[in-house]
Amino acid sequence: MARRKASPLDPLLDSPRVREAARALIDAVAEETQQRALTPKQYQRALRQLERRRGRPLPLPALLSGAAGGARVRLADGSTKLDFAGGIGVYGFGHGDADLLETAAVAAACDTVFQGHLNPGPEYLRVTNALLRHAGEHLQHVWLSLSGAMANENALKLILQKHHPADRIIAFERNFAGRTLSLSEISDKPAYREGLPLRGGVHYVPFYDPEACDPISHSVEVLDAHLHRHSGRIAAMCFELVQGEGGFHTAPPEFFRGLMQRCREEGVAVWVDEVQTFGRTGELFAFRKLGLEDLVDVVTAGKLLQGSAVLFSKAYNPKAGLMAGTYAGSTVGMAVGARIIERLETEGYLGPEGRIACLAGRFERRYEALRKRAPRALGPRSGLGAMQAFVPFDGSPELAQAVVHAAFEEGLMLWLCGSQPTKLRMLPPLDTTDEEIETAFNILEKALLRVAGERDLPC
Ligand SMILES: Cc1ncc(COP(=O)(O)O)c(C=O)c1O
Repeated sequence: MARRKASPLDPLLDSPRVREAARALIDAVAEETQQRALTPKQYQRALRQLERRRGRPLPLPALLSGAAGGARVRLADGSTKLDFAGGIGVYGFGHGDADLLETAAVAAACDTVFQGHLNPGPEYLRVTNALLRHAGEHLQHVWLSLSGAMANENALKLILQKHHPADRIIAFERNFAGRTLSLSEISDKPAYREGLPLRGGVHYVPFYDPEACDPISHSVEVLDAHLHRHSGRIAAMCFELVQGEGGFHTAPPEFFRGLMQRCREEGVAVWVDEVQTFGRTGELFAFRKLGLEDLVDVVTAGKLLQGSAVLFSKAYNPKAGLMAGTYAGSTVGMAVGARIIERLETEGYLGPEGRIACLAGRFERRYEALRKRAPRALGPRSGLGAMQAFVPFDGSPELAQAVVHAAFEEGLMLWLCGSQPTKLRMLPPLDTTDEEIETAFNILEKALLRVAGERDLPC
């Protein structure tokens, strides 16, 4: 991976004097928030009001009010929770990270809240450079956008333009790509597109099944059948290298390589959706961790980036007018996203012996210890790096929900993923401490016992 070079824009982005002023602002805000909390009654009223505004209950009854520090977040009633859901994987270094808050404060004070593609600033350049340092030689361009879905929309458009008139897309069963009209159709989640008009032309390939006798050949055969049936009509295959929403399923590099090679032989674009894996698997991009860089045409990133991006090779550079939009991202998001990447590079997070790999090891050991004590409450674990999930009880959605709510009440935020079985996912900060892991698992144990006790289930 190329190291960051000093940029002539650096003095514009940060300076010790400015950092010091930012620190004073952050301290003042922290002092104020410490002194303010809603009463339980006010808190409940605020929650109900928010639910009425949204027209539905909140998934978790949490109104965040400020940083508690690390994996802990403070709610508006003054209580704290351990946050292992992380807004579904957004908080790379948890809550209240001093360096990221300072970076954000400096960026916020610079000029505009948002940056558009018409008037990019230094933060725009800083984050695009940071992304391209990790993308390998083949991917040479990057466009920023706001959400993972917008990055995937851009990916889809530039692929469809290049491959016109081919207009069909292949994706994995159980994949999730986002919630726009076209991505709702690609995502293998029928409940998320109920009642929507469909364009047609999305075909699915089974994801790697470790239980199957020859999972690689099986998926390649299904891909080949689609390629044969719709010869010349398939524009791209979308790859989620660790399925997020679908249940934190992983696969060995040979699986992806086999499918990607077939795509390339047939002139089908290889599009990798790294919106959730970005920064979490031990390399900035999972496709590099899995050694697939020679096969990838288009990649999207989001979440931990604090914005989103599509990266693509020269051959996929679209015609003028296809990609733009008013906003490229918020100035704060770009500066903090770039800073997160710089810290992953310089603070030892990446690589096989890096801090993300160690975090995964500590998590696995703690999970297996708890599983020994509660073998009927905990099933198999899956995931990679700082993306970890497990099956609670029988994997039914009701019991998984019950554990999420019991854990929340006991002080731990988790979230759901997958179906049949429904799993609980953890997307902890990359710098989660031993104490935070220990406390999280103690709370999880309490929650499992509570759910089992209330239902008379064996644990
Ligand atoms: C793999 C993947 N792609 C795309 C998206 C959509 O990202 P966003 O919710 O930021 O639009 C998500 C969100 O969970 C995701 O996990």
